[in-house]
Amino acid sequence: MELHAIKRVYGAYSDVYDALFKRFFYPRIKHAINYMDIKPGDRILDVGVGTGLALSEYPKFCTVVGIDLSTAMLKKAKKKIRENSYKNINVLSMNAEMVGFEDDTFDKVFISHVVSVVPDPYTVMDEVKRVCKNNGQIVIVNHFKSRNKIVMAGEKFLNPICEKIGWSNDLCLNEFIRRSGLNVYEKYMLKKLDFWHILFATNNKSVSEGNDVAYGRFNTASTGAEHSL
Ligand SMILES: C[S@@+](CC[C@H](N)C(=O)[O-])C[C@H]1O[C@@H](n2cnc3c(N)ncnc32)[C@H](O)[C@@H]1O
Repeated sequence: MELHAIKRVYGAYSDVYDALFKRFFYPRIKHAINYMDIKPGDRILDVGVGTGLALSEYPKFCTVVGIDLSTAMLKKAKKKIRENSYKNINVLSMNAEMVGFEDDTFDKVFISHVVSVVPDPYTVMDEVKRVCKNNGQIVIVNHFKSRNKIVMAGEKFLNPICEKIGWSNDLCLNEFIRRSGLNVYEKYMLKKLDFWHILFATNNKSVSEGNDVAYGRFNTASTGAEHSL
């Protein structure tokens, strides 16, 4: 989506976003942040923070900056910050394609349901890697194109509609990892049949092309996640 369309569409969503999407998005957001290796004093960037569905999950001992293009979505996030007195969290109006922070500012970056919304996910990922410290953690929650041929056909059919209502369906997971230059050490879905992947990556600044790990099934070892079908 183009930037003006993103502002328009998410401006329109802002009042109903939580009611429409929280039940789908929040469980993965909660899971992903709980399995981030957040340490006391960590500085975390939440890219495309939206209405702030993730804000309740960040521990008080870290500092969080959320950025978003949509002032209407940010207004909702600011309300959550105010109502819950989140003193360690701040949100700013900012384009993720031109992040206004210096190199190596953040220990960790969280990006949920954003890389298939922005016009160019790779420009955003370049910015994410730039502002994240070397060997920092980058965690992504997103829908990627299915590898099941029937689902893929449905997604292709629906993509023009999805693009009008706020996201694209055709981002390929392996291509995204490779072109982002992400050192992904774990990727999985919370359920066997799920629309969203969770990726845990290390920001290895010396690597320009990303690696690709085998599926950690709907994983397991390091997360200890419970998975239901
Ligand atoms: C589907 S919402 C996800 C919000 C939140 N991360 C969540 O998981 O609920 C996508 C968000 O990305 C924001 N966004 C899209 N393009 C952006 C950009 N270039 N810079 C910053 N935010 C952007 C939108 O305004 C919107 O709030």
